[in-house]
Amino acid sequence: MGGAKKFFEACAVDDVKLNQTHEVEVNGEDVLLVNDGGEIHGLSPYCTHDGENLDAEEVHDHQVECPRHGARFDVRSGEVTRMPAVYGIASYPIKVENGKVFVEVDE
Ligand code: FES
Repeated sequence: MGGAKKFFEACAVDDVKLNQTHEVEVNGEDVLLVNDGGEIHGLSPYCTHDGENLDAEEVHDHQVECPRHGARFDVRSGEVTRMPAVYGIASYPIKVENGKVFVEVDE
């Protein structure tokens, strides 16, 4: 807990297509980048219901839907918006610079 965090380069902005997801590995951590109407967010790629991977899902109304049992998460915060998941997914700070996406994770 409380370890140092740092921004690491993840990919080019163009790799995260409009209203799509794009999973990357950032310093050993799996991160789901989500393009929500042109704004990029960083989330954990794993559904908190039963661990399903949320990559390759389209973004609708600021949400991604788990393909397994239909839980939904708000991509801006990671909060649950539909059952059966109860807990939100972790979110990661993102920054975009010089056409690249950076994600803040443990150093
Ligand atoms: S694993 Fe995602 S809703 Fe069940």
